[in-house]
Amino acid sequence: MTASADHPLAADALDGLWSDPPTLPTKWLYDERGSRLFDEITRVPEYYPTRRETEILQEHSASIAAATDASTMVEFGSGTSTKTRLLLRAFADRAAQTGNGFTYVPLDVSTEILESSAVTLAADYPGIAVEPVVGDFTAPDLALPPAPGPRIVVFLGGTIGNFDDKERAVFLERLAAALAPGDFFLLGADLVKDTGRLVAAYNDKAGVTADFNRNMIEVLRSGLDAQGLYVDDFDHIARWNPRRHRIEMWLRARRDIDVYFEVLQRSWRLPRGAEVLTEISTKFDRRALDDELGDAGLPVVQTWTDGAEDFVLALSRR
Ligand code: SAH
Ligand code: AVI
Repeated sequence: MTASADHPLAADALDGLWSDPPTLPTKWLYDERGSRLFDEITRVPEYYPTRRETEILQEHSASIAAATDASTMVEFGSGTSTKTRLLLRAFADRAAQTGNGFTYVPLDVSTEILESSAVTLAADYPGIAVEPVVGDFTAPDLALPPAPGPRIVVFLGGTIGNFDDKERAVFLERLAAALAPGDFFLLGADLVKDTGRLVAAYNDKAGVTADFNRNMIEVLRSGLDAQGLYVDDFDHIARWNPRRHRIEMWLRARRDIDVYFEVLQRSWRLPRGAEVLTEISTKFDRRALDDELGDAGLPVVQTWTDGAEDFVLALSRR
């Protein structure tokens, strides 16, 4: 797809590529290929978060369904909704017992993955109404669908960590404003741990994370009709930033880069060795996260962790 000059990718590129350091919003990692690569990452041995969160959901989904008695679940950044199936099973069982309906609204920017997953889910859970929405959870207007009973917004995978501190505060504020009193928010967050394990999780030996990161170059090339921009001219870098307790993914130029973006009608230069920031993945302290949610008007009513205490699920009630 080629973007027109008013396409969001064009605006984000103009905003980000000429800033210091150059950067692009993380959502541009998730075209169809990027989404498939992320799915592959969840299965590499070094990437523990998906397995840990699955472990928590296997154990506690039934309690979450009972504690919230939600009629509607909205999921931000649902991707393939693989882990969400554990929650859907629990809510479907509850709906069958109570005779009330249940609606699942997966929301994602990645259209192909969202739509194909929704078709499979609707077939696998005939008792659930599946209503996918192509959308951006960073949009100022976080309108949630009306519902006959309490709603639960779920945000899994540690995707909250992909915001910086300021973006996270804005997101939580908008979410709190969109939720009605009595609605719930279920948040999955990755916890601070041994640096070696963290760095390995973003630098897997098979190179899947490297392909995922470098795919951003292909998104830029095809979306902005770029001449002189090649994936092979960039190295994947993943570093732990101890001061901001986050993993940072960068793309480092292997040579002097000189690109012309047809869609922007502009040239972009990046000297050899310079880096573009493509993703941050903040890791949390349990107590600080509880406080942050409470301060945002989303007080935590219950938390669960896995056996290794790698990952946390926090349930807040507005
Ligand atoms: N929830 C899944 C997927 C996590 S990957 C899991 O836990 O495994 C992050 C997902 O968020 C991707 O599917 C990506 O397409 C989506 N995403 C990233 N930025 C987004 C944004 N700004 N708005 C909506 N979806 C976004
Ligand atoms: C989606 N998000 C929580 C993942 C993470 O761990 O920050 C994306 C990812 N980036 C590299 N590996 C996985």
